[in-house]
Order: sequence, then C-alpha cells, then structure tokens
Amino acid sequence: MQPVNGPMNEISPVTDAAPIKPVPTLPDAQTVTQVTHWTDRLFSFRVTRPASLRFRSGEFVMIGLMGDPNPETGKQKPLLRAYSIASPSWDDELEFYSIKVQDGPLTSRLQHIEPGDQIILRPKPVGTLVHDALLPGKRLWLFATGTGFAPFASLLRDPQTYDDYDEVIITHTCREVGELTYGAKLIESIRADEMLAELIGEGFADKLRYYPTTTREESPKMGRITDLMRSGEVFADLGVPPLCPETDRAMICGNLAFNLELKDLLESYGLEEGANSKPAHYVVEKAFLD
Ligand code: A2P
Repeated sequence: MQPVNGPMNEISPVTDAAPIKPVPTLPDAQTVTQVTHWTDRLFSFRVTRPASLRFRSGEFVMIGLMGDPNPETGKQKPLLRAYSIASPSWDDELEFYSIKVQDGPLTSRLQHIEPGDQIILRPKPVGTLVHDALLPGKRLWLFATGTGFAPFASLLRDPQTYDDYDEVIITHTCREVGELTYGAKLIESIRADEMLAELIGEGFADKLRYYPTTTREESPKMGRITDLMRSGEVFADLGVPPLCPETDRAMICGNLAFNLELKDLLESYGLEEGANSKPAHYVVEKAFLD
C-alpha cells in the first residue's frame, strides 16, 4: 500500500518548482504595473500598493532603487527620493509622476523601469500639501510647475477637495506644450469620470477650473503664472477677484524659485503659511527635481 504521506504524495512540498508569485528581493519592494512616457523629460508609473498603506491626498513617500554596489565592500544601499503620490487615496495602486534627468543618480535609472520590475517604497507618507493644514475657505488655488502637478493629481480626485470648497482652480506652468499633457489628460478624465461623480456628487466637475500656461513654446496662454497674477490677467481670464485671506486658500508645488516667488506674492495678498500643526491660508512643497 502506498504510504499516505510518502515522498511522492501530492501534498508534499515541491521545493524545486517556480514560485507562483516572484518573491520580492528588495526591502519594501513594490511591483511596477504600468509606465507611460509623456515627453523625453517626463514619465509616470503605477506600482502595487502595500495593503497597510494609508495616506492623505497630497502627501509624499520615499521611493527608489538599490544603488550600485560599493566597490570596496560590495554592499548595496537603497537610493531613495521623495515622491508625491499622484493617485487618490481610494485607488488600489499608487501612481507617481517624474522628471527624467539623464545624469540624475535615481531618475537616470528609474526612467527605464518596466511593468514587472520592482522599486523600493517606504510606506511612511508625510507632507504639508494636505487639507488639514488649511483653514476653511471658499476657493482653493493649486499652483504647480512641471512635475509639481503630482500631489494635485491626487487632491483633485479626493472628494474632500470639492466638499470643502465652492471653486477649485489649478494652474500649471510648463516650458513646453507637451509637458502639460499629463495634467490636461488627468483633468479631462476627472470631468468624464462617472465613478467620481457618483462618489463626490453630480456636477462636482463644474467647480474645477484648469489654467495651463507655457513659457517657452507657443500655446493659448503664455507666461509664468506669477507674472500673470501680478498683471491681473489670470483673475480677468477666470472672472475671479485677486486672492484674499477671507476666501482663498492655496497650495504651491514647483521648482524652488517658483515656490519662493509665489510665497512672496501670496503674502502680499495677506495670506499666511499654514502647517499640519497650525492650519492657515496656504502651504508649500518642493517638487522632486533630481
Ligand atoms: P521659464 O521657462 O520662464 O523659466 P522648470 O522646468 O525649469 O522646472 O520650469 C517649469 C516652469 O516653471 C517653466 O515654465 C518656468 O518658466 C517656470 N518658472 C521657473 N521659475 C519660476 C518663477 N520664479 N516663477 C514662476 N515661474 C517660474
């Protein structure tokens, strides 16, 4: 008679067979599910989401790849950078929007990831571009340059954004028209998204105003948003008054010079900077630039 638990029994562990799922080889590994190249300088990608990861729209996490081995010890260390989460908190996956810097330590390599590859993701979200850091207001301004659009891609799909404000204005300044595509397509998809309409309420998209501008290539609206604010053009175009602390709230995410200039401008309208611990009228975060 055949022994029930004999070596050839079908319930014996089969040690040399390929595992069904690839075992993560990196610490905090997540698997890339989709990569989209928008221009030769910009790409976005989606990865699996750790089951335990909760975050507030607008926050960032540290992500990256294993660095090259140390020539002396052979040891490898993770190479990590702060990336805003571009996907909404209700999404099953996480999305990121990144610049490609040809000699950047991380993005020179990250730009070559493909579906099935793994990245490192430290599941500790933090950041200041969150609703909790702003006092209640009527109109929310989101000011972005380049990849600074990313945290707003998350916030614009968060029901709270439309529950808390009567009007949401997103401005995006880029050098060239092609650099606006990621944001333009996202706005388009939000307006057409039936699930969002169900979640947030029919007509929510009427609150959303999109104001894209370019600085180095011809487009319907040209110029830096800061100059367009100083001249009053953006307010005339949108039919809204200049910002004031009673009604307006703002979030800023772009390159360093832009953040500083816009901060000064907002202060000149009387707005004060807020933080998680002390909510006020506006908040700032630096976009990833490496
Ligand atoms: P510009 O082309 O006039 O420099 P970058 O790709 O260098 O991060 O820039 C993204 C966008 O931000 C560009 O359109 C750039 O305009 C604009 N920008 C850069 N600095 C400022 C600033 N201080 N104020 C407003 N916009 C800025």
